[in-house]
Amino acid sequence: MRSAPARGASACAARCNNHSLGVTQHDWGAEPRHFGLTAVLAVRLDRGASAGRRGGFSLENDMLRVGVIGCGYWGPNLIRNFVMNDATELLQVADLEPGRLESIRKVFATLATTTDAEDVFSNPEIDLVAIATPVSSHYPLAKRALEEGKHVLIEKPLTASSREAEELCELAETKGVLLFVDHTLLFTGAVRKLKELVEAGELGEIRYVDSTRINLGLYQDDVSVIWDIGPHELSILQLLLGREPDEVSTVAACHVSRAPGLYDIAYISLKYGRTIAHISVSWLSPVKVRQTIIGGTKRMAIYNDLENVMKVQIYDVGAKTVVRDLADIQKVLVEYRRGDMYAPVLDTTEALRNEVDYVAECIENGEQGPVNSGRKGLAIVRTLEAADRSAASGGAFVKIAG
Ligand SMILES: NC(=O)c1ccc[n+]([C@@H]2O[C@H](COP(=O)([O-])OP(=O)(O)OC[C@H]3O[C@@H](n4cnc5c(N)ncnc54)[C@H](O)[C@@H]3O)[C@@H](O)[C@H]2O)c1
Repeated sequence: MRSAPARGASACAARCNNHSLGVTQHDWGAEPRHFGLTAVLAVRLDRGASAGRRGGFSLENDMLRVGVIGCGYWGPNLIRNFVMNDATELLQVADLEPGRLESIRKVFATLATTTDAEDVFSNPEIDLVAIATPVSSHYPLAKRALEEGKHVLIEKPLTASSREAEELCELAETKGVLLFVDHTLLFTGAVRKLKELVEAGELGEIRYVDSTRINLGLYQDDVSVIWDIGPHELSILQLLLGREPDEVSTVAACHVSRAPGLYDIAYISLKYGRTIAHISVSWLSPVKVRQTIIGGTKRMAIYNDLENVMKVQIYDVGAKTVVRDLADIQKVLVEYRRGDMYAPVLDTTEALRNEVDYVAECIENGEQGPVNSGRKGLAIVRTLEAADRSAASGGAFVKIAG
């Protein structure tokens, strides 16, 4: 990593105003998309002169210098976090649309912007390129960044095909740089707590996971709801179960989407050995639901992302069979255990802040880190492809290539 210049003219010196960035509204009433750049920038300016930092960097030396490509809906969240983080310095932002860049400059006046992503790739000062563009452009943009020897953080899903993802992973390995995929939910306090509980054996063996992530969602031009929302759920399953699924079956439909395969509602069933999982994703729900039920042999957990305080609830409940008469299967009794419910305290740090910390630390240590690696992203893309194949076949179980 290169040493940092004096920070006087850096993004930290950007001025604040009340401009609200990129607020858009879907045609038929989806939720507006808001960003809180100005509020957090004030926090960053407060912290700006402090000497200490997390992640083993020092303020004057070894800043991780970042370029962001794409500042539509999600990009500004990355921008805000790279500006705020003590370990990173945002040097340049690219977007094809000058209007998007103008909005960013209204908040970060000194930030260099460009309509040509090549300017970011060829900028020798930049160590890490973060890509927040539509999925179909992930591969060509990431490839160029890797070819230039940059570390790369790509938005989920990693790429539009496993062939592309495999190629990017291999290119990163050849170049000796790190490739990350932004699976943001893995960095939430709730999912981290669930992982902790699973690892500590608090839930016992996980028998099933049942997840629903539906709302009146924003239709994407280039991907279906499976590829848009599915990666969130699949990444949680990947983390909690510590493995990839064996098979997937998907029943999906395009009710409003304009092209075949651009499903707007899907029911995805997965087999992980003895554990089964079901994911329901939809852009066509009148209400927003973001809930995961995890059934363990000892306890069960509910993760409700829309809950403010009790996002994770652990239920000390279960059922077991009590055999009365081995000769007569009809006489097998099920005995229930109904114990307490508790809701653990969760870390409320913004997930993207945790993720930027993690990425910066991995790069600082020169180690990929297992949570959001390119290879983990590749595995999820393989599952998405198999889910598509199943949907095209009417829902038959499709084996997932390892
Ligand atoms: N991690 C999350 O929770 C999360 C949430 C939403 C979206 N995303 C992901 O973020 C990515 C972007 O989604 P979005 O909703 O922000 O899309 P968007 O359409 O709102 O924004 C994309 C931006 O990229 C720009 N762009 C496209 N091609 C470009 C190029 N070659 N060079 C420079 N700029 C280019 C566009 O002009 C646009 O401003 C997608 O991969 C999506 O899956 C992730």
